[in-house]
Amino acid sequence: MAEESFDVIVIGAGPGGYVCAIRCAQLGLKTALIEKSKTLGGTCLNVGCIPSKALLRSSEFYHQTLHAAASHGIKTGKTSLDLPAMMKKKDEVVGTLVKGVKTLVSKKGVTVFHGNAAFADASSVEIEADGKKQTVSGKNIVIATGSSPVELPFLKFDGKTVVNSDHAIAFDQVPKKLAVVGAGAIGLELGSVWSRLGSEVTVVEFLPRVAATFDADISKLLERLLKKQGLSFELGTKVTGMKKDKKTTLLTAEKDGKELTIPADIILVAVGRAPNTEGLNPKAAGVETDEKGRVRTIGGFRTTAKGVFAIGDVIAGPMLAHKAEEEGVALAELLAGKAGHVNYDVIPNVIYTEPEVASVGITESEAKERNIETRVGKFPFAANGRALANDAPDGMVKVIADAETDRLLGVQILGQNASELIAAAVSHMEYGGSAEDLARTIHAHPTLSEALKEAALAVDKRAIHSL
Ligand code: NAI
Repeated sequence: MAEESFDVIVIGAGPGGYVCAIRCAQLGLKTALIEKSKTLGGTCLNVGCIPSKALLRSSEFYHQTLHAAASHGIKTGKTSLDLPAMMKKKDEVVGTLVKGVKTLVSKKGVTVFHGNAAFADASSVEIEADGKKQTVSGKNIVIATGSSPVELPFLKFDGKTVVNSDHAIAFDQVPKKLAVVGAGAIGLELGSVWSRLGSEVTVVEFLPRVAATFDADISKLLERLLKKQGLSFELGTKVTGMKKDKKTTLLTAEKDGKELTIPADIILVAVGRAPNTEGLNPKAAGVETDEKGRVRTIGGFRTTAKGVFAIGDVIAGPMLAHKAEEEGVALAELLAGKAGHVNYDVIPNVIYTEPEVASVGITESEAKERNIETRVGKFPFAANGRALANDAPDGMVKVIADAETDRLLGVQILGQNASELIAAAVSHMEYGGSAEDLARTIHAHPTLSEALKEAALAVDKRAIHSL
């Protein structure tokens, strides 16, 4: 039988791959999408962004019912946790979304193959499923195989005592003591979920502060707020391994030259993710990888093999679903002869703790490193009417502008709904806006977004509602 051939074959159906496939099909390219899992949507929909957000919402609901409802004049009876029901709700959200992606992809005219894809050469791919193999060929092949949790050599994942984020979104009971290695997005989000549900959570972080991609004032404030919620932190601490006591497991670590032992029923390792190229046989196509195992790209998402491209977590850059999606769209447009482009300077970044923390552009300390003179405006949510009405006075907005041109260089928001609020800053920055532009934009009253306007006013020391 002749092999089926396509204009574009996309390998991997995460947010990078499926979005790229849809955009290719929209542009009239005959497109195939190959996915080794049973469901589409990749890490983000199945075990990442979406299930974690569902659990964050449910656990916050539980926590608020226990700790905040009474202060709003709401009397509840005895509140208890039904973890299987909470997990079922999360699974339903995931189920709805993956079904939605399946429908979207097929209605847009993309041909889906399920199975493991391996390069035969630079223009054909072998798909293996249930012991059967078939080969498809493509004028263009896109690698969008994503990433997987990094394992520490002395803390191997066993899915029971030492786990990664895939496991930590599906515990069947609340661990009494949870040790989390890494105070990045995954550690803080899943640490928050299980802390709210009753675990004693200790987060161990190598660096001297949490959420280290944010400025120190923001991450220090976040740390303080999370501590108030019950999380403990061991910062500036190097994890060295684990040992078993008679009854308990102890995470071992080193801080200031001294050994620390942290008792834990479960250890969640959240120290980053590594690109997925295993089983893909990139060498057969002449696709090179770099020192971190990422597919090497040489501009325009091209790899070292002609006709082979790569996007998303498997290449350099932040491992974020929206970065992958944008690359997928840009690549599809380039393949269709259009001008695809990604503005890497304006990619928002969010950690969905409560309060959330979000940023775009560069931090104040990055500006210093680059010898860029800045003017900085800050505004606390404690001075924002809506934040007080929402019982969410914690956090602040920080606007960083170029001292000479007033152009917005970066914005960081620690506060309720920061993930949504950052979008306005992203838009202003996308169009090269200044702090003055943001300050003169009308924001509805009363909204949390007024804090963004006030922080922009504060760049010029003229915030209205703060001293
Ligand atoms: P991360 O890179 O965000 O954070 C890992 C943290 O672990 C860092 O602070 C690092 O200093 C620390 N670390 C590394 N080795 C360590 C060690 N041996 N001992 C103690 N600490 C150590 O990685 P994370 O949280 O695992 O997330 C993986 C990727 O997924 C990231 O690129 C992240 O941006 C992305 N992601 C994004 C989310 C979002 O947008 N909200 C949610 C979840 C993940």
